[in-house]
Amino acid sequence: MKLLFCCAGTKPEPWIAGLRAALPAADVAVWEPGAPAADYAVVWAPPQAFLDEQPGLRAVFNIGAGVDALLKLRLPPTARVVRLDDAGMSVQMAEYVCHAVIRHFREFDGYEADVRQGRWSYRKPRSRADFAVGVMGLGVLGSRVAQALRVFEFPVNGWSRSPKALDGVRSFSGREGFNDFLAASRVLVNLLPLTPDTQDILNRDTLSRLQPGGYVINVARGAHLVDEDLLALLDEGHLAGATLDVFRTEPLPAGHPFWTHPGMTVTPHTSARTLRDESIAQIAGKIRALEQGEPIAGIVDPVRGY
Ligand code: NAP
Ligand code: GLV
Repeated sequence: MKLLFCCAGTKPEPWIAGLRAALPAADVAVWEPGAPAADYAVVWAPPQAFLDEQPGLRAVFNIGAGVDALLKLRLPPTARVVRLDDAGMSVQMAEYVCHAVIRHFREFDGYEADVRQGRWSYRKPRSRADFAVGVMGLGVLGSRVAQALRVFEFPVNGWSRSPKALDGVRSFSGREGFNDFLAASRVLVNLLPLTPDTQDILNRDTLSRLQPGGYVINVARGAHLVDEDLLALLDEGHLAGATLDVFRTEPLPAGHPFWTHPGMTVTPHTSARTLRDESIAQIAGKIRALEQGEPIAGIVDPVRGY
């Protein structure tokens, strides 16, 4: 069985060593143009030429959870696209989102600014009941985030395509449930996949529906958010702030207003990183299962787009 590795911006040597150790019977190599036909590929942002050269691939393993970029390419007709299924990402995402929510709710930025000026100050405690958090997307990452927020006793709403039953999480679903979900939420966390249905979903209309003093946390994809609508709602005071980890153009271009806007926290697409060892173990396990004819989790539905 032959496996090719083709991941832009990723040092290949440790991946190749890890994949060889996990799949000793496999012939594992870094892709180079003209490589012999392979059965499996491990990819991130591969060039179209790679996929065109490998029409016989049985499965293409994406070393990320989001497959929006991969699905824009022309894929081998028989290849299944397999996304990372947690592989250590959900706990990172839960940390990141809880940190952002708590930092905003407890006004830690304000305290930090005061302390820097040598000021011993108190702010009036805020009521958790006034800070309902709405989580868009209750999949592998969103459901973990929703459950982590419940540990801190925030009211938590969740929105997904199909209804969900998560302990302590109020479930909204489908287009018909979207406006009620927004109206019930003050803090909005986006963990949707980027698809034609969800592109630009964070816009003036939807963000205006959040409760006054709303706060936006986008950890999914930059193209979910209409940047200028967010900026306008911040300037108008309907939104109190935002934490953004993902952007339409990455790296965030120099001079973009997000870098300096007050109330805005920016991080460089780092909320849930791909962990090499966990990812290799998951991919190797799935290849072994496929070789045995067994089903695997994380196969992407190309029609749904996630
Ligand atoms: P997932 O398991 O596929 O979950 C997707 C969730 O979104 C599901 O609950 C799904 O509903 C819901 N959904 C999809 N389309 C919808 C629509 N049109 N309306 C309402 N709900 C919809 O994905 P995941 O593993 O949690 O990852 C989510 C996204 O996070 C990824 O696609 C990626 O873009 C992003 N991500 C970002 C980072 C980072 O570092 N910033 C890291 C990893 C992932 P159903 O359950 O009903 O199908
Ligand atoms: C990162 O953004 C991922 O999709 O895994």
